[in-house]
Amino acid sequence: MLTREQALEAIEALMANQYSAEGISFRDVMVRNRQVSLTVLGASAAKQPALEASLREALAPLGAETVHCRFRDEGAPASAGGAEPAPAAKAAPAASSAGAKNDSPVQGHGADLASPLLSPSSGTTFIAVASGKGGVGKSTVTVNLAVALARRGKRVGIIDADIYGFSVPDMMGIEERPEVINDRVIPIERFGVKVISMGFFVEDNSPIVWRGPMLGKMLRNFFQEIEWGELDYMLLDLPPGTGDIALDVHQIIPQSKEIIVTTPHATAAFVAARAGAMAIKTEHEIIGVVENMSYYVSKSTGEKEYVFGRGGGARLAETLHSELLAQIPLGAPDNHPSEPDFSPSVYKAESETGQLYLELADNILKRI
Ligand SMILES: Nc1ncnc2c1ncn2[C@@H]1O[C@H](COP(=O)(O)OP(=O)(O)OP(=O)(O)O)[C@@H](O)[C@H]1O
Ligand SMILES: [Mg+2]
Repeated sequence: MLTREQALEAIEALMANQYSAEGISFRDVMVRNRQVSLTVLGASAAKQPALEASLREALAPLGAETVHCRFRDEGAPASAGGAEPAPAAKAAPAASSAGAKNDSPVQGHGADLASPLLSPSSGTTFIAVASGKGGVGKSTVTVNLAVALARRGKRVGIIDADIYGFSVPDMMGIEERPEVINDRVIPIERFGVKVISMGFFVEDNSPIVWRGPMLGKMLRNFFQEIEWGELDYMLLDLPPGTGDIALDVHQIIPQSKEIIVTTPHATAAFVAARAGAMAIKTEHEIIGVVENMSYYVSKSTGEKEYVFGRGGGARLAETLHSELLAQIPLGAPDNHPSEPDFSPSVYKAESETGQLYLELADNILKRI
């Protein structure tokens, strides 16, 4: 059986030989049931098909059945409307993506059916998690805040609204696929949180090639065709930037509130401010700012080391006339694949970071 270590080694070797000189890098390598997925940063649209093919070539002999790359345009300025790479630029070769479009059960029905969850009387509080920049930890914060709210006894859902770059299922360690009962899709429940992601509806992790308008439709379908039941909180993990999805969220859920995630770095906070400006434009109330990767606790001295600088979160909160809700340190959860409830990204309640997420949840419960 292909292990993550073997895959990682092969990918590292390939990248070092052929791609790293071109500024292409990778992260988030996941291996599950012979399926490998990873995020590739900095590969131009022209390079993507060949890169994906050479990854397949390198991993197939080790036993990988499929290889799926999420291509990300890391470091691109999040200018208005331009933060999301154009769908065409992300599109992978048509042949490998043909299945995705028609196989999804979350398709088709009229876009104007009312969803009970969206009616003002549902009592559900919507919280979109945004940032101007990729890779600052939106998905990590979404997942852990949702789990923390569930640990506090709330009924919580997550919509992974990063339609192209979905990562929530992998982060939570979800391997199963949702059931469809009477034409309704039942969300997957994990750590007490109900989850829906595009990742559940993509065969073999094939890339998605929908154009802009499909994104909004998909988001609507995530409300209309999913059997959510009653929820106190619905968290939306947004894609990086201030692109189409943010506008769709505004149209579909005008009452949504927002949390802006940033790192302590001054530039990151500056870019995140644009996401904040977007929230203000769409009249989404900003609950506050979460500063992620704030510091690293030195194992030898126990002291905090501010590896990515200091003060970005506080400055951003000030710019947005909002508050700094939490500072989350650097450090992956101490989870092991042999644990029955393994997930790569959910911190245990009793861990230090798990406690900080519970405090964040309490902080938010107090404000709403
Ligand atoms: N506090 C942290 N300590 C260590 N690693 C972290 C922390 N927060 C996030 N990460 C890691 O950083 C990477 C990026 O995080 P994540 O995917 O949550 O960011 P994102 O903003 O959702 O990214 P994207 O823009 O690609 O959607 C992931 O590999 C994640 O595991
Ligand atoms: Mg994400």
